[in-house]
Amino acid sequence: MTDPLVEPQEASPPPPASDEGDPVLATNVPEEAAAEPAPDTTAPAPYTRVVAIANQKGGVGKTTTVVNLSACLADLGQRVLVVDLDPQANTTSGLGLGRQPGKSLYRALLGEPIAAENILDTVVPGVSLIPSELDLAGAEIDVARADNYLHRLRDALAPLRATGDYDFILIDCPPSLGILTMNALTAADSLLVPIQCEYYALEGLSVIHRLMQQLRDGGANPNLALAGIVMTMYDARTKLGGEVVREVNRHFAGQIFDTVIPRNVRLSEAPSYGKPVTQYDPHSAGTAAYRRLAEEFLSKQGLSRAPGVRAPKRARRLAIFRLTVISKEGA
Ligand SMILES: Nc1ncnc2c1ncn2[C@@H]1O[C@H](COP(=O)(O)OP(=O)(O)OP(=O)(O)O)[C@@H](O)[C@H]1O
Ligand SMILES: [Mg+2]
Repeated sequence: MTDPLVEPQEASPPPPASDEGDPVLATNVPEEAAAEPAPDTTAPAPYTRVVAIANQKGGVGKTTTVVNLSACLADLGQRVLVVDLDPQANTTSGLGLGRQPGKSLYRALLGEPIAAENILDTVVPGVSLIPSELDLAGAEIDVARADNYLHRLRDALAPLRATGDYDFILIDCPPSLGILTMNALTAADSLLVPIQCEYYALEGLSVIHRLMQQLRDGGANPNLALAGIVMTMYDARTKLGGEVVREVNRHFAGQIFDTVIPRNVRLSEAPSYGKPVTQYDPHSAGTAAYRRLAEEFLSKQGLSRAPGVRAPKRARRLAIFRLTVISKEGA
């Protein structure tokens, strides 16, 4: 069965030609162009990839993936902006920040430009954050009444993309298919879907798959690609975990990350310390898995890590060991 949703990543604007793995560092800009910003449309544009992390099911690992994937991408030399689009604000706290009155995307979704002060530094060097707070819940209603309500986030992020300050913008979505998630899906180049290794995983997956198809076919985001499906909270001790991995692989072959995120207590503890797991326990299995996911994610995006930046050897060895075990069990 061919799947119309699996569009090659080339559907998105191509990165500028560079073998150095960093799509945004535009060097060799002629002096005239540097002095006169903007009008040269022939120069390769800095390219920021927007990735929505979504699944309407709650508690499947969206936020854990955004927090830890962003930290691991930054360790690999990528410049990451995280957008917390969930009024629960778990990503905001998971990256070490408290609630930030007036700094969420609420106003931007109603048409105000995103101010520099809305973009905060986090505990992770290389990861910035547009935080969330409860007022974002009101956007579900207020944005729905506005014109062009599906593209509010896309329009708000456009000036940020144009600066080329970020390699990736990762958007953490709430557990629903409401206006906020729909805005993320229309703003994104691609969608990353975490699914929990449990019985109802496939059901939830087909819902978001169908929605993606509708957004593409209906023209709301014709180029929306699937960045991949990542299986989370895998428990090697249960038979069910292995069965779900096999079943999802059968239905969505080629769309699933090889990296499976294990259930790991360090991953669940890290948010209460306001840190990604890479800082909370750099030697945990959770750290190894998310490092591996970040490498695989970059490779699927046609990128490698920035020059000179190396993943810790121990983390790589651990990730490869765990993957081998998991893939043998799941084969
Ligand atoms: N691999 C894992 N191992 C152990 N615990 C995990 C793992 N991934 C996530 N958790 C824990 O599971 C719970 C749900 O995870 P998370 O908040 O990332 O899911 P979510 O999809 O963002 O939830 P929501 O839909 O409410 O936004 C959290 O307590 C988190 O710490
Ligand atoms: Mg969440």
